[in-house]
Amino acid sequence: MQTTPLRYLRADFDDLEEYTPVKPLDVLAAEIGVPIERLVKLDANENLYGPLPEIREAIARADLHIYPDPGQTALREAIAGYAGVTPEQVVAGTGADELIDIVLRLTMPEAVVNVTPTFGMYQFLAQLGRARVVDVPRLAGFAPDLKGIADAVAGGARVVFLTSPNNPTGNALRPEEVDALCELDALIVVDEAYIEFGGQTATGKLARYDNLILLRTFSKWAALAGLRVGYALCHPELALRMMAIKQPYNVNVAADVAARVAIEHRGQIAEMVSAMVAERDRMARLVAETGWLRPLPSEANFVLFEVHGRSALEVRDGLRRQGVLVRYYDRPDLRNYIRISAGRPEDTDRLLAALHHLETA
Ligand SMILES: Cc1ncc(COP(=O)(O)O)c(C=O)c1O
Repeated sequence: MQTTPLRYLRADFDDLEEYTPVKPLDVLAAEIGVPIERLVKLDANENLYGPLPEIREAIARADLHIYPDPGQTALREAIAGYAGVTPEQVVAGTGADELIDIVLRLTMPEAVVNVTPTFGMYQFLAQLGRARVVDVPRLAGFAPDLKGIADAVAGGARVVFLTSPNNPTGNALRPEEVDALCELDALIVVDEAYIEFGGQTATGKLARYDNLILLRTFSKWAALAGLRVGYALCHPELALRMMAIKQPYNVNVAADVAARVAIEHRGQIAEMVSAMVAERDRMARLVAETGWLRPLPSEANFVLFEVHGRSALEVRDGLRRQGVLVRYYDRPDLRNYIRISAGRPEDTDRLLAALHHLETA
């Protein structure tokens, strides 16, 4: 009789909906057949300016042979100063992604609310935690459906995930929307991964609402996506529990020092962020001139475009063949959309040349 080692595993993973991650530069270059330096990577909302030289130098000097501080003492203090909270309200993790997982492990909720379309990690990790995912579709203009969310909470969901500014739609939550959500009897997780690019942070509300958890990251503004470092801001009692269940050495020594140096040099990084915001707006304006790519307003470092009169998949593939990578969505609530990250001026120029080539091909 044929057997399989899968018989020892969870049967519900037989039909797991896997997360679709982006690929690294060398893999993409080999797949597409273009040299790495010719790739224009506008598919993952990374900061293409890269980390400050001071960060690279600090990593080179770090004591890599010593385990990191499980209490994250220096890092929590630095983040607290940056975010305007106390260190007891901070928990750092291996990217904001790990904090999503920690929240789910802490709560083991029967059901979670996912406000779609949005970042795919909430639904993926909820699935791993055997939580029922209640999708609450966004309304016209991608505003959150507060009534729908309240109904889902009344129906038993104990954790609500919301992104502000939202990925991939680019719009941010209004402060009164955060207030309305925090009045619900559930943990409200507001993912502010892109907050350095726009939108209003909800940190000022942490003192008022003990059920509010904010997620942040160094991946986007500080150009540290490859190092994996993010954090949660919340009530000190929640933070204490998160600290208790996290993997002790979750933030590695290089990520720890890089994040602290980024905070130290935040003025310099803010200049890069301003350049990316300006480039986002220039890119949206110039791409819109095609007439068949319509941008949605964005407060983040990317723009969602509705593709008219062409297939978004063919646009994605046509750009990819020229080494320009954008994110394509094939889902009922984002039929025929592409998302393009804001890069440097030369990245926008390559994108525009590639679009022009598609039009004339
Ligand atoms: C909304 C949102 N949250 C979190 C992340 C991941 O953050 P990190 O790199 O810190 O895990 C992303 C990355 O794309 C994102 O879009």
